[in-house]
Parts: sequence; structure tokens; C-alpha cells
Amino acid sequence: MTISYQTPKRVTVVGLWTGAARAFERSGSTVTIGRMSARSRDLPRRSCLSTPASSERFLAKAPTVAADMTFLDLEDAVAPGEKVGARAKAVDAIKNLAWDDRVLCVRVNAWDTKWTYGDVIEVVSGAGERLDEIMLPKVQSAAHVIALDLLLTQIEENCGLPIGHIGIEAQIETTRGLINVEEICAASPRLETIIFGPADFAASMEMPVLTGGVQIPEYPGDHFHYVFSKILMAGRANGLQVIDGPFLYVRDSDALRDFAMRTRMLGYDGKWALTPDQATVLNEVYSPTQEQFDRAFDILDAYRHATEEEGRGSVMFGDEMIDEASRKMATKFVTRGERAGLRRSES
Ligand code: GLV
Ligand code: MG
Repeated sequence: MTISYQTPKRVTVVGLWTGAARAFERSGSTVTIGRMSARSRDLPRRSCLSTPASSERFLAKAPTVAADMTFLDLEDAVAPGEKVGARAKAVDAIKNLAWDDRVLCVRVNAWDTKWTYGDVIEVVSGAGERLDEIMLPKVQSAAHVIALDLLLTQIEENCGLPIGHIGIEAQIETTRGLINVEEICAASPRLETIIFGPADFAASMEMPVLTGGVQIPEYPGDHFHYVFSKILMAGRANGLQVIDGPFLYVRDSDALRDFAMRTRMLGYDGKWALTPDQATVLNEVYSPTQEQFDRAFDILDAYRHATEEEGRGSVMFGDEMIDEASRKMATKFVTRGERAGLRRSES
């Protein structure tokens, strides 16, 4: 029996995965896990629309909203008494509504509730074919991710889905989760994104605020700067997309744009949208401008010419000296722009 995880970008996974691999060996079957959830891993997630799975009205509207990614929520947007019934509504919506090729995800309840395993089994067995990912909230340690990974593997086997078909999005929204974010980001080859949950995080930190994820005017600076940076570094070190959470003043698009620019400038890939209007703002904020996109191509052309035809490692580009590091920065812009659907202008 062999289990091989081809995750060149996540070498540290190996240590954590020893326990999981042994668990599979006892089953006596052969499981070969390659690159996980290939369809959705690199799709854009500039806007990630939250949709309560208990509401048929919101579910019906979700596919019409121009968001890169939609997640049907079984967690905090659903009242406790509605949670079990919302599973079937999520399955029905995934199977029967006219989704385009956007990333489609379900947020299940956290492992410290009684609902997680039931959520995962019902949703993946019922609608696993079109479902891209499960979002796991309040992740505190690598073990939380590994437990979900193991459960997904069994469901995929039983449902005839390719092993690794369902990806994982992990939410960091507790102090313990932030402390462990590095091991969490390396915990499974199924991980596609790491997400910051500012509202729960503010509660976990016992910050004296009543609205999470907005600017605190009394604070001299950005009270989340350290948190944003720490999550971003851990995510990038493991090849994940990195996403910011909700902005709760849903009627104030200017304030959203202003606040989202913080994580955009740090390098985040996107942010949650709570309304269609928020999705529109975020699609713009997290895309490069056409000018930046074209300039990135021009840098790549100039650098290629310098290195390949002139044998030089650095060259002047306008007023600026460019070298290999400039090529790397420009390549990131091109990737991000192409994800956002930009095309290079005709020159
Ligand atoms: C999102 O889940 C948050 O807690 O901000
Ligand atoms: Mg939360």
C-alpha cells in the first residue's frame, strides 16, 4: 500500500501527515493523493460572497451576483434551530441553481460544535461533484484541518469522487489559531486558502469593540496590521491564496474600498462580500489596473531582452533599474491580472 502526496510547495506537510498516512494503511487499501482540488486552486477570489444556506431567497440570488467565489454558510449566518435543515437547502442549491464556473464552497460549523461531521457528510455526499471546497471556521491547530481532510477522503471514496476533489479553506479567527497559523497553513495538501475572520478574532482577543473588521479611529495606526501580515506570510509560504474577511458596514462602499486597500496593498487576493454591491467594489480593489498590468508585461519584455540577448542581469527600464527581483514582482502582477480576466493592451 502506498500513499504519496505530491506537494512540492509544502514539504513541511510530510511530518504532520505521518499520522494520517498510518490511518490509511490500516484500511488495507491503496490511496494515491496527487495535486489537490486542481479546478479551483488558482481561480480568482477577489470577492467571496457569503450566503446563508438557510435562506432560499438569498440562495436563489447568489448565482446572479458577480462574485468570484460563493460560499453557502451553515455557520454563524444560520440560527441553531435551522442548521440541520439548511444542509439540504445547500445541497439543493449547489445541484440545481445555474452556477457558472466560479469557486463554490460551503462553510460548515466548527469542530467545537456538534454539527461539523454531519455538515460535511451531508453536503459532500449530496453535492460533492460541483462543490469545490469546504470552509472550516475557527481553526485552532493543524489537527483541525487534518481531521477534516481524513473525513473528506472517506466520503470521496464512498461517493466515487476523485480523492482530493474537495479543497479546504481555513479561517483564522481565534488567538490560538493565529499562534498556530504556520502549522495550520502546512497541514494538508487540500488547503487552498487561509482567511482572516476579524469579527470572531476581535471577540477572541477581547478587543473593546462592537464591530469587527473596521477601522478603530481611536487606535493610532492599523490595529490588525500584525495579524494581516502574519497570516499573509504563513499562507504565501505554503502557496495558498490569502483572503480578508467581512466588512460589516454594508451600506458604506467608500469605507469598504478604503479598508480593503490595506490588505490589497499588503498582497491579499480578495475579501468577503456580504452584498452584491460589496462584490462589485472588491472585484475592482483586488485587480491590478490596466496600466499596472501592461507595465508588468513591459518589465518582463525588457528583462528578457537584457538577460537573453545582451547577457546582462540588470538593465535600466525608464528611470528604474530592474533585475531578477523585478521579474518576480512583475510575474505576480501578470498572474493576478490574468486571474482577474485582464488582457495586455495592443501596443
Ligand atoms: C468571520 O467569520 C468573522 O468572524 O469575521
Ligand atoms: Mg467568524
